[in-house]
Amino acid sequence: MFVFTTHSELRSFLKKQTGSVGLVPTMGALHKGHLSLVQKAAENNNWVLVSIFINPTQFNNANDLVKYPRNMAKDIELLTLYNKKLIIYAPNDSDLYPKTINAKKYDFGSLALHMEGAFRDNHFNGVATVVEALFRNLKPDRAYFGEKDFQQLQIIKALNDQLNLGIKIIGCPIIREIDGIAMSSRNQLLNKKERNAAPIIHQTLQKIAENNDHWDVNYMNHFFKKSVEENFFLRVEYFFVAEEATLIPVSHLKKQNDYRIFVAVNAGKTRLIDTLKLGRI
Ligand code: PAJ
Repeated sequence: MFVFTTHSELRSFLKKQTGSVGLVPTMGALHKGHLSLVQKAAENNNWVLVSIFINPTQFNNANDLVKYPRNMAKDIELLTLYNKKLIIYAPNDSDLYPKTINAKKYDFGSLALHMEGAFRDNHFNGVATVVEALFRNLKPDRAYFGEKDFQQLQIIKALNDQLNLGIKIIGCPIIREIDGIAMSSRNQLLNKKERNAAPIIHQTLQKIAENNDHWDVNYMNHFFKKSVEENFFLRVEYFFVAEEATLIPVSHLKKQNDYRIFVAVNAGKTRLIDTLKLGRI
């Protein structure tokens, strides 16, 4: 395993190697969701490059940035499993933000208007700024992103197309705990009661998906809020059913179209997001 803190050293190392490079961008506090991306990258590439960088410009809430879990020693330990072909890039702010630590402005149209784009001010400008810097500085052949953050995945595909960066963007399925909760670095911040309550989020999404051919979107929304908020520790921030291609929320499902549910739920002070694809009607 190789560890670099500057992209210039990393690039000169890679120039001396042969073969394809698969990038897995992360903010650390790695779990099996991240590792599934690493595994996929290892299967398809000669080199796997994992970036670990808590990107300040995508946090719209200063306290969220301070509280974000950090555990570099454990991250490195988990990644040693993939040893031979693995490179870790763990830069300081100045390596990705040489001038000022600010988000650039992008236009992703409807993709960034709703859900996380509406509820987290400037979040996707921050994500796109850091991912553009990673792509331009590291020049991977492929880059791997989770469907856990489905809106982010669509935006990164658009970023790559708009700027003609020529990287193959690969989406990977959501990895869940046995009780259904989507794995997330933020799950570490849940106390026992919040953690015990959280599986209802995915369970309720599944019930909705089982009934999507005869429930209307309004009822789905009502059902989700009622069943999740029966638990004192959970409060729904949003529930949307949106078209997969445009990410525009809808109030009626058309036949033969692809939709997905998107939710954000506050469990105490921790914000959890989840998503589930609906079967076609
Ligand atoms: P982070 O939350 O660390 O996630 C890194 C990658 O892991 C993302 O592509 C995310 O979708 C994926 N991931 C997280 N949990 C997952 C799960 N349970 N199953 C499958 N994939 C999962 O997303 C970010 O970091 C940042 O926004 C980043 C892209 C690194 C830019 O700063």
